[in-house]
Amino acid sequence: MTYLTVYTDGPAPETLLRTDDQAEIATSLKEIGVRLRHWEIVDGLDGASSDDVLAAYRDQVAAVVAEEGYTFVDVARLGPDAPADVAAAARAKFLNEHTHDDDEVRFFVAGSGIFYLHVDGKVHAVFCEPGDLLSVPKQTTHWFDMGTRPHFTAIRFFHDDDGWIGDFTGDDIASRIPDYDTIAAGR
Ligand SMILES: [Fe+2]
Repeated sequence: MTYLTVYTDGPAPETLLRTDDQAEIATSLKEIGVRLRHWEIVDGLDGASSDDVLAAYRDQVAAVVAEEGYTFVDVARLGPDAPADVAAAARAKFLNEHTHDDDEVRFFVAGSGIFYLHVDGKVHAVFCEPGDLLSVPKQTTHWFDMGTRPHFTAIRFFHDDDGWIGDFTGDDIASRIPDYDTIAAGR
């Protein structure tokens, strides 16, 4: 289940909140326009093909697509067996603060990752785990950390199948906030 840590965004960030209370997390995220929902977990999909993953969640995916008008859905995954350079390159890609002009919507089928949402002087670090569907609206300032040993399978939803480009803010805030490895170790 989801785990939330909220930090101040100054030069020496302080922890404002740390919780695994799902109602508290949903309320906190709602305040910044981010939606978190939970789907029942289908086991045995870690390492499964994209077709099998999408088939297992067919009804839930169809409902989200109908609701939000997404035109492209795929499955992203990275396992602990990925070579170190592949893992490091994948991690580095979205590890700095950025925005983009499509929503970022992810359902965690297996593994985990942290979305950091930088809104109104605070950073919400949302540790996502299997069963979590996180919807980050377009233009929300954020970054994503999959850790130094990435392990996740996630369904992604897009309005544009050309793929979006991150618009990086140049702010080094991601280097001041505890990273995935640190938060994972502290749970
Ligand atoms: Fe992003």
